[in-house]
Amino acid sequence: MNRENLRQWLEFYRDLGVGPLYRRVSSELMQPIPEPELPGLAPAGDTLLRILEDIGDCRRCRLHEKRNRIVFGSGNETSPLVFVGEGPGADEDQQGLPFVGRAGQLLTQMIEGTASKEGIRLTRADVYICNVVKCRPPENRTPEPDEMEICGQFLFRQLSAIQPRAICALGATAAKALLGRKEGVTKMRGNWFKWNEIPVMVTYHPSYLLRPYNQNAKREAWEDLKKVLHFVYD
Ligand code: URA
Repeated sequence: MNRENLRQWLEFYRDLGVGPLYRRVSSELMQPIPEPELPGLAPAGDTLLRILEDIGDCRRCRLHEKRNRIVFGSGNETSPLVFVGEGPGADEDQQGLPFVGRAGQLLTQMIEGTASKEGIRLTRADVYICNVVKCRPPENRTPEPDEMEICGQFLFRQLSAIQPRAICALGATAAKALLGRKEGVTKMRGNWFKWNEIPVMVTYHPSYLLRPYNQNAKREAWEDLKKVLHFVYD
């Protein structure tokens, strides 16, 4: 089996919810995990700038150790629609911007292609895009629960500051962080949920849609996006 086949198998098992297929070595597991310094409650009149300042040169969890850049978010800071992904990948970690790699290109196509087909004037720059965790998990692994909890506080502050009309959760990590639900995306997608009274649509993560065996899901993701765009922009 070559590296590419192996990568696809690992991704396939991850999609099935099997994993992680590797574990941290036991000596590492035995080290006491320092008490995370959780960010405080959102201050009144919170702004994205204030949140960014509070994140600072964050070292609140282990993800800081291997990151190059913190990826805070990008786009229209008063957007009625916010997309939430899982966490930065290699390209995002290099550039400091969310969804700029292959998955990001697909997300841009999905947003702009669906909008244009539906007669809605919208570009990627009109929406706001961010992630649950702001630092790249090593080897693109799924963020651990404590990492999601620590960084999730900043995501919640971002969403509270923006107060969008709707949120689109891309994939299982975003759905879990926002809704605390463990069902798979396949079950939840296409339906409306709520985060703090803001409607949340769950759909597939664009990385999942890039995999050759997930082509049916692409059609479903386009349907989900159509629903979100009409809800927000009609
Ligand atoms: N995947 C994500 O979840 N977020 C990014 O920013 C890029 C890829």
